[in-house]
Amino acid sequence: MRIVVGISGASGVGCGIRLLEKLQEKKVETHLIISDWAKRNIEMETDYRVADVEALAGYCHNNRDLSASIASGSFLTSGMVVIPCSMKSLSAIANGYADSLIARAADVNIKEQRKLILVPRETPLNALHLENMLKLARLGVVVMPPMLTFYHKPAALIEVVDHLTNRILDQLGIANESAVRWKGCVSRETNEIEFPGP
Ligand SMILES: Cc1cc2nc3c(=O)[nH]c(=O)nc-3n(C[C@H](O)[C@H](O)[C@H](O)COP(=O)(O)O)c2cc1C
Repeated sequence: MRIVVGISGASGVGCGIRLLEKLQEKKVETHLIISDWAKRNIEMETDYRVADVEALAGYCHNNRDLSASIASGSFLTSGMVVIPCSMKSLSAIANGYADSLIARAADVNIKEQRKLILVPRETPLNALHLENMLKLARLGVVVMPPMLTFYHKPAALIEVVDHLTNRILDQLGIANESAVRWKGCVSRETNEIEFPGP
């Protein structure tokens, strides 16, 4: 399996790093693009150096290199994830403005009808952000904002990041036994469904 991973300059670059770690663990061939602002954010938000992040990937591409293999649909991949996806990269992808390798590789995934997963990160969202997401969702792009998750009772932020990245592995069809999964409101004692209220 071969997956393209784009890390753009939104907050939450650690989510992209965690996904790369999981894909490496699963022995998936990864093609990584880190935008210039993502490089700055890696330094600001994490304890990783950019070189450490690049070492997690099979192949690294320059975001300005529009001649890279992954800029062509003839280079076969199983999909692409942009995590986190800045509102700028979201807009570029939604409007087909392929002037960076992240936007071009995403454009290729849409035209080849391959899996494209975006993890757009911004809050609050304005109407332009929402329109861009709607446009992409209508094209079959999976829009997965990094939502807070609670039912697995996270004790630390890394557990929320793990939940998100596990759901991305699900979307990519990668088997993952370590994922916490919802099993319904079943009582531990009686094994019956517990309904709230009297
Ligand atoms: C510390 C920091 C945090 C940022 N957080 C966000 C964010 O959460 N969402 C967003 O859309 N842009 C954010 N930005 C702005 C983007 O980095 C900026 O729009 C940049 O042009 C995105 O380009 P790229 O998509 O090529 O990385 C942030 C910038 C900095 C410096």
